[in-house]
Amino acid sequence: MADCVKVSGTNKNADSKFIHSIKPPQTYKDASKILKQMSEKKGTFKTCLYNARNNNRHKTVYSLVTGTMKYNSILDELIESTCLSKENRLDKELAKVLIYELFYGKKTLLGNSKPVLKILENKKELEKGLKRVLKNKCVEDLSTTVYIRINTLKTSMDDFVYYLEQQEYSEIYYGPETTYEEYIKLVKSLEIGSFLRDFHMDHLLVFPPRTSFYDDTFFQQRKIIIQDKASCFPAALLNPTPGSTVIDACAAPGMKTTHLAALMENNGQVLAVDKDEKRIKLLENNLQLSNVTCATCFCRDFTSIDPKEEPYCNAEYVLVDPSCSGSGMVNRLREGSVRSTNNSADRLRKLEWFQIKCLNHAMEFANVKRIVYSTCSFSPEENEAVVTRALAEHKGEFRLVRALPEWQRRGITEGFKKMSRAIRTDPEADMTGGFFVAVIERKNTVNKISLENVFDFTKKEITEKFDERKGLQVILAPKIGKNEK
Ligand SMILES: C[S@@+](CC[C@H](N)C(=O)[O-])C[C@H]1O[C@@H](n2cnc3c(N)ncnc32)[C@H](O)[C@@H]1O
Repeated sequence: MADCVKVSGTNKNADSKFIHSIKPPQTYKDASKILKQMSEKKGTFKTCLYNARNNNRHKTVYSLVTGTMKYNSILDELIESTCLSKENRLDKELAKVLIYELFYGKKTLLGNSKPVLKILENKKELEKGLKRVLKNKCVEDLSTTVYIRINTLKTSMDDFVYYLEQQEYSEIYYGPETTYEEYIKLVKSLEIGSFLRDFHMDHLLVFPPRTSFYDDTFFQQRKIIIQDKASCFPAALLNPTPGSTVIDACAAPGMKTTHLAALMENNGQVLAVDKDEKRIKLLENNLQLSNVTCATCFCRDFTSIDPKEEPYCNAEYVLVDPSCSGSGMVNRLREGSVRSTNNSADRLRKLEWFQIKCLNHAMEFANVKRIVYSTCSFSPEENEAVVTRALAEHKGEFRLVRALPEWQRRGITEGFKKMSRAIRTDPEADMTGGFFVAVIERKNTVNKISLENVFDFTKKEITEKFDERKGLQVILAPKIGKNEK
């Protein structure tokens, strides 16, 4: 823990006219008072806000309180892990309001009061601490669109939407005529407190950047999972039927394993393999919290598993989501970023070699009829090159399926045959992380389970919903992720 910068009249950064009795602006005081009353359970959010109501400041106080509440656990951890924890005279709720305002709100603080100067003078230390806390919480980037996947093993879309309404969130509706480009405009214009249903996937909701669910019981109980849309494509496109056997070859920490189990309705077998002992623990914990009962974890090197060994030999589906350079995620990070990467040619070559080995190995399991290969990397070496090479090594046995026919960002075709059948996601155009996903099927099973029909955007699949509140007919976009029977 670093030492706090001392605030005194002689401090270089302090205003020379600093007067010790200067009070913090009333909005900061009101917001911290409401937070304190709520933490002491002296009233609900609404009653505390109503009691403190002052028409001039109401809007500002409201946004300070809601913003601080959203980051409450992050701010608590931050204060505990920095010198501010030793500042007995600094009101903790006020400190949280100020830190929120400085990093997530207006990005500036008003006045020269002692608490304000204390926070400003420790800005660098707080910034570092924030990165540390966010890293531990696996928060990738607070400036990007937030996707919430409903964990259907624990709750339903209706229950979560009802909960959101209780929390005064508002749903932004769009209809069947809405194009993808129009939908993306809606995503870009979302304001805090509003949300959309995803254009493609069932059970996925879209929120604006800086929406936080870390303190919500729905998140803490794993009823909802914070998962980028692009990272939901691999399991949705593998689309295993309930009752089937699936290998998740590089499974930890289990974002996609939990998604697979939800798609299979906990019916069947997911063999979740990862060679890293520590990450297997995370995986086990994640599965348990998420109510996944159909998965078993194996701490093993996937590439050394004998394809004839029980229970792996029964696998009909394999998800290969191997270690990669992560360039698709890193490039997405802007302010608040916590990851860095070293994508030297040498590292890429090693990754490519390992990825080919993994995908080739998945093709060795005799009962496998569909494989999804995915990375969160932009490099063709880790994507198109890997799939091309593995298909060539199993010539005639497997084929690449054109996944999501209407999706615009496709695999790179320069130098690679048929790679427009694979999909890529683009952070700017799709408001997701950068992903590559290839769907591969065994040739002799194509007629039975062809994906093209499953994922075609036909108007037949349009879901109709009646919005009783507004008396409007709301027709949602066609979805993917329906298991073929
Ligand atoms: C990109 S991460 C997987 C993320 C995971 N699919 C998810 O959605 O949460 C890659 C994982 O592959 C694991 N891994 C690397 N080499 C492996 C191998 N030879 N066999 C099995 N797992 C491996 C790593 O430990 C790491 O957890």
